Amino acid sequence: MDNILNKIQNLFSDDIGIDLGTANTLVYVKGRGIVINEPSMVAINKKTGQVVAVGRDAKEMLGRTPGHVRAVQPLIDGVISDFEVTEEMLSYLISKAQNGFKLLGPRVVVGIPSGITGVETRAVRDAAMNAGARAVHIVEEPMAAAIGIGLPIHEPTGSMVIDIGGGTTDIGVVSLSGIVNSRNIKIAGDRLNNDIITYIRNEFKILIGEKSAEDAKIAAGAVTNMGEGLESSVRGRDLVTGLPREILVTDKDIREAIHHSIAQLVDITKEVLETTPPEIVSDIMQSGIYLVGGGALIRGLSEMLSELLGGVTVIVADDPLTAVVRGTGIILDDIDAYKESLKEHENQISPTA
Ligand SMILES: Nc1ncnc2c1ncn2[C@@H]1O[C@H](COP(=O)(O)OP(=O)(O)OP(=O)(O)O)[C@@H](O)[C@H]1O
Ligand SMILES: [Mg+2]
Repeated sequence: MDNILNKIQNLFSDDIGIDLGTANTLVYVKGRGIVINEPSMVAINKKTGQVVAVGRDAKEMLGRTPGHVRAVQPLIDGVISDFEVTEEMLSYLISKAQNGFKLLGPRVVVGIPSGITGVETRAVRDAAMNAGARAVHIVEEPMAAAIGIGLPIHEPTGSMVIDIGGGTTDIGVVSLSGIVNSRNIKIAGDRLNNDIITYIRNEFKILIGEKSAEDAKIAAGAVTNMGEGLESSVRGRDLVTGLPREILVTDKDIREAIHHSIAQLVDITKEVLETTPPEIVSDIMQSGIYLVGGGALIRGLSEMLSELLGGVTVIVADDPLTAVVRGTGIILDDIDAYKESLKEHENQISPTA
């Protein structure tokens, strides 16, 4: 009997949660945990329009593709840059997340940046529906992250989450199941990479690629001098001779390169606190500010924020890169309990299913 029930159950899809990030896409499947964690990248054959590779395989092709293959990021600066590519990516993820043939598409919870427009929200929902979802629920990323790291979002006490991703930083204040204040800015990991490219071009007269800049940021990046003497070698093209050249960049170089962007990030966080009701600010002073997203890992950032924000405790969440997708997973377990925290939710059978 159990066996038959299992078989019937298996004909229905496993519900899934998706963090569709600018840099990384993660997929959570109910009962199985995080099953996909790959770069947000799709390689397309321009002649046939067919998808050649998705995720890690597509990222490997970046900058190395023959003329007719194009590697595309579905999202740029946290916004869908190419609707069809996003749909292809979602449909690949949804089918990869399923075990075998299914009668019905899955229910899907998707995290999107806060402050995204209604049109963009609809684009994400339509893409997931066309990709085979049976129902789509949308949650703003700071809310998903707050749920993912276990903050008491339903309670009448305010919490602040800063999600520093690849394309965007989302600063959100959450209380009583809703977002009471938020800002979404395009100063995040990609911007820091570009800062490093510009700095190295100006200071060393060398042009380096985005991947090299990112590697240097991760290996030698620190927003304050932590006395560690970090360094990283980067290779690029000498702008004077035109030949390849390798140089050593230090934590001091990276710090100077990203200084301006980090200062802007701190200023905007201050602005969010200044426009948050005083009772909630006092809650945040008590409970601390939580950093998530890959940018949370920049050395010294939590200490610097704490110092510049009047001594409030700033905590880098455990496993900051998976906070949003873990939140979508928790929502899937009991969608009704999180209804008020969802941006929009649609419960209809897809017309194309
Ligand atoms: N150890 C590290 N130090 C500094 N930056 C890091 C580190 N690890 C990852 N990053 C940066 O984090 C960013 C990716 O983070 P994340 O996966 O949270 O972004 P995302 O969710 O895809 O983007 P978004 O939320 O903007 O759509 C990249 O810019 C990457 O360079
Ligand atoms: Mg993100």
